[in-house]
Amino acid sequence: MRRPLIVGNWKMNTSLADATVLATSIRNAAEDLDVEIVLCPPFVWLIPLAEVLDNAPPNVCLGAQNMHFADKGPLTGEISPLMLKGIAKYVILGHSERRIHFSESDEFINDKMHAALNNNLIPIICVGEHKKMPLDKRERGRPTKTELRSDVLNQLSKALDGVSRNQAEKIVISYEPVWAISKGTVQSRNSADGAYANAVIERLRQTVARKYGEDIAQRVRIIYGGSVSASTINEFIYQPEIDGALVGGASLQAKEFINICRQAGGRE
Ligand code: 13P
Repeated sequence: MRRPLIVGNWKMNTSLADATVLATSIRNAAEDLDVEIVLCPPFVWLIPLAEVLDNAPPNVCLGAQNMHFADKGPLTGEISPLMLKGIAKYVILGHSERRIHFSESDEFINDKMHAALNNNLIPIICVGEHKKMPLDKRERGRPTKTELRSDVLNQLSKALDGVSRNQAEKIVISYEPVWAISKGTVQSRNSADGAYANAVIERLRQTVARKYGEDIAQRVRIIYGGSVSASTINEFIYQPEIDGALVGGASLQAKEFINICRQAGGRE
């Protein structure tokens, strides 16, 4: 059984004081939470938070929100895998906000995948379609391959280009429909519904299976992201293909995030 994974993507939020309080609360609760927890603060808080998480239970660790693929060089404002190594265990790659606002291409993201894997960082590769499917199709719950090929499956195939079988089983895939991101977290009906997300994730797992075989596909964790809150997590976590969540807004409130982790841990 794949252990549930809950990732908090803090995006460009928190002061150092906020970040410290948030990480401390989560660290203190982690022992009782039967999930793996990854906190992804802004780059500048990684080192102070590594201290906060020193001696933390083994199910909580740090991730970075992004990185460049190069080890070093004249790349003003960038962070390299060598700098993250030893501080972060995971790195989010290909988030739609990077693809949209910073024009990151599939090729660029693939270069980062290789750099992460070569430096023992676990990539959380994000894929997601831009346009909400028509409601009737969503309600049918099963997008066709043609509907998906243009975006989600293509993004995954390109991200996996050149990734070996051994490397593939380590990666985490996050399905984040762009239209479902940042649409409010309380009682939100704007997140994708569980059956729909499960159907897309099933297709993503089939893509992994075709490339690497069913055994690897069954080991790869595929999570859902997009307006997940404590009131919507159950819709996703009980779906057979969904192994956890990538949480944005709701990961900034300790109580809400711990509640999400507690519910996800109760799945097993
Ligand atoms: P929200 O949970 O705020 O919709 O953000 C989702 C996301 O983009 C996580 O990476």
